[in-house]
Amino acid sequence: MDIIVSSACIISVHGNAKSIPQTRMDKAVLTLGSEEYELPLTVGSEREVGIDIRALRKESKAVTLDPGYGNTGSCESAVTYIDGENGALRYRGYSIEELAQKSSFVEVCYLLIYGELPTSAELDVMKHNLTHHSMLHEDMKKFFEGYPPSAHPMSVLSAMVSSLAAYYPDSEDPADLDLNIIRLIAKLKTIAAFSYKKSIGHPYVYPRNDLDYSEDFLQMMFAVPAEEYNVPTLLARTLDMLLILHADHEQNCSTSTVRMVGSSGADLFASISAGISALSGPLHGKANQEVISMLARIQADGGNYKKYLDKAKDKNDPFRLMGFGHRVYKNFDPRARVIKKTADQVLNDLGINDPLLAVAKHLETAALEDEYFVQRRLYPNVDFYSGILYRAMGIPTDMFTVMFAMGRMPGWIAQWVEMRNDPHNRIHRPRQIYTGATERAYVPMSERD
Ligand code: ACO
Repeated sequence: MDIIVSSACIISVHGNAKSIPQTRMDKAVLTLGSEEYELPLTVGSEREVGIDIRALRKESKAVTLDPGYGNTGSCESAVTYIDGENGALRYRGYSIEELAQKSSFVEVCYLLIYGELPTSAELDVMKHNLTHHSMLHEDMKKFFEGYPPSAHPMSVLSAMVSSLAAYYPDSEDPADLDLNIIRLIAKLKTIAAFSYKKSIGHPYVYPRNDLDYSEDFLQMMFAVPAEEYNVPTLLARTLDMLLILHADHEQNCSTSTVRMVGSSGADLFASISAGISALSGPLHGKANQEVISMLARIQADGGNYKKYLDKAKDKNDPFRLMGFGHRVYKNFDPRARVIKKTADQVLNDLGINDPLLAVAKHLETAALEDEYFVQRRLYPNVDFYSGILYRAMGIPTDMFTVMFAMGRMPGWIAQWVEMRNDPHNRIHRPRQIYTGATERAYVPMSERD
């Protein structure tokens, strides 16, 4: 297989990944001008091939250029596998469809972080630990008072997670790290619910140790002190499933941020706080919130799908179809399939008729028949239908991305731990191709006017 990179540079991979056993594909050869460089290959357990260019710079002074890291492997990882062409997503080898149907969020946390499904005794310990570390230090309640009610809960979440480091410092002792991991997952739901209560001016509702993870979050969100609140089982199970679907997604923007920050030796809380900030962008986690605004806008505009598809296709218009398209999935996003099916069931069971679900379905059908979206292989992603479900559960729109962060927490942690334990880990420090001015003499102010 020869891939022509440019007239002066040819790279060939010895062997053919499709028909020749992996053992025979041992190296790539890069021709750069008149020089040839042999580059070793790394082959993953799912037969993905990586051309290892680590030595290239030393030998040739050339770097690889890949803005947005669209085809750059930044690490070897055993956590999550995605096959974007075939819409497959697996955590530690287990398919997302099976986990969403049969597992619980706490079980998936254990699987991602420790690498195996827990035994019943291990799961009991994890559940016990997560419930017994869910309180916030009382001092931290004061932090919430400093934010205006209009503060976006993602800003609050990121700042509060970063602040946890002040209470639970980093340590070399693995037992301390293990405890900090538990604290982070356990306290995240409390921080999330408190930030919501603060935004609506209600008293905080404290965590309860008799409830499971999702039930406890829902009671902290919706219970009112001195009034009885029974967590609806359907809502708790739906939330658990949504958290499972979001739990990891290999080297996406926020996870790479977590690894990038952690590669400097920064502690768990600082690294994850940075990941939360990365997730807050509309092209990433905040897309779920943006989808609802977009659907509401289309509905208020008389449901004119064509107008919005045309806007999305117009290169002079910044409008994009939110919840559509993905860097990796090119046929379908398996998470979106599960969520769409669940949205129908849950809304039906709750007796909710959300007009935005109909708008979403019409928009999806129209986009999937449109040449522009077909050609670019743009499909609904995880965010397209998740907001409809959160709305049905009574979660306010600006909390949607916080829900995503709660789900993604075990994935970020698993990736951070893997990075920290990797003997090959180095501080992340990409190169660039400089395109600015070449060296020139300083111009004194008197000559500039
Ligand atoms: N609406 C209209 N056009 C789109 C969309 C969209 N949602 N997504 C991609 N395109 C077009 C681009 O304009 C580009 O067209 P061109 O080739 O004519 O220039 C082509 O499709 C490829 O798009 P890129 O932006 O190069 O793809 P990239 O992989 O960099 O971006 C992303 C992926 C950010 C998800 C993009 O599809 C997007 O902006 N989608 C909307 C936001 C969104 O839903 N984000 C959530 C992603 S999932 C997650 O993070 C949880």
